[in-house]
Amino acid sequence: MSETHSATGVCIAGTGSYVPEKILTNDDLCKMVDTTDEWIVSRTGIKERRIAADDEPTSHMGAKAAERALEQAGMKAEEVQLIIVATITPDTPTPATACHIQQKLGAVNATAFDISAACSGFLYAMKLAKRLISDGAFENALIIAAEKLSSVTNWDDRATCVLFGDGSGAAVLRKSMPGEGEILATEMGSDGNLTHLLEIPGGGTACPITKENIDQRLNTLNMQGREVFKIAVNRMKEAAEAVIERAGLEADDIMCVLPHQANLRIIDAIADRLAVPNERVFVNLHKYGNTSAAAVAIALDEAHRTGAFKRGEHIVMVAFGAGLTWAAAAIRW
Ligand code: ACO
Repeated sequence: MSETHSATGVCIAGTGSYVPEKILTNDDLCKMVDTTDEWIVSRTGIKERRIAADDEPTSHMGAKAAERALEQAGMKAEEVQLIIVATITPDTPTPATACHIQQKLGAVNATAFDISAACSGFLYAMKLAKRLISDGAFENALIIAAEKLSSVTNWDDRATCVLFGDGSGAAVLRKSMPGEGEILATEMGSDGNLTHLLEIPGGGTACPITKENIDQRLNTLNMQGREVFKIAVNRMKEAAEAVIERAGLEADDIMCVLPHQANLRIIDAIADRLAVPNERVFVNLHKYGNTSAAAVAIALDEAHRTGAFKRGEHIVMVAFGAGLTWAAAAIRW
């Protein structure tokens, strides 16, 4: 499903992110499962990841990132009209984590709901919010991606536990003024025939929580990594190319590509296929691992705050995750 820029431009007025203090290094993991720092770094590029404390649920991390985004946008919580939270690790099955965050922020005038699109969730939320603002339904939106993947990780499975981490990112979207940036094109898609490649099989209505299901770790993330890898490269390349083309741009015009932070080999393969030089591709997965929906949101905030791009320059965000789902956005900052 694709979309190009509309009559009412929508810009990103502020970004924020948050990661918990606790660092889990590859050496720490070597004490937990049969792995090595060399294997993890050479196969994934990940060196360490953050782990949230027991008293840091997803909403805590999401609210922290949101506060930073609001501060940068110069906006008060009471002014927020819409909150969309992308997460696969909600505080509670219901109510939505967005409502928990609304309460923490004091965003009393907002409408708040969650979406579930795994690693693509932040860009799904961006597309939804952009459309709702450009259609005039809302003046502004706070989009948040927050994940506590440590709570759904099987810490005995070396194939997956080395990959994931916790964190959150957020952005404030509003109508753009003359001379400001604009979200130029967005893309999202999914393939439900591939649900089995990456899933948490238990905990929902198909396989409710029982002692036996928990003993079999059905409440944790299970992934067929090699299959996901191949599809991820192709789908992210296609999604990124689609938004670059519809925004009327060439690869050379892109100052910064912000890909989902799952695996450095996937990121390198996408940079090659898009013919974007490596120095224009933002990477922080060595510090945080794969934080699902939060990954591109944290990358956006870090890239923005460290000056990886500036006003008037073009960036492309692209993600891929369970569903399978994929999404991309081309933005003039
Ligand atoms: N340490 C040491 N050896 C390991 C480890 C480990 N941590 N994990 C697996 N191995 C072994 C395997 O047992 C296997 O051994 P064998 O050949 O004797 O059977 C060997 O290493 C190779 O395993 P593969 O799974 O084939 O390794 P691969 O090179 O594919 O890398 C990885 C695995 C990193 C998971 C990769 O496939 C990948 O990144 N896939 C994509 C992940 C992704 O993009 N996910 C998207 C979104 S995530 C979300 O939505 C939440």
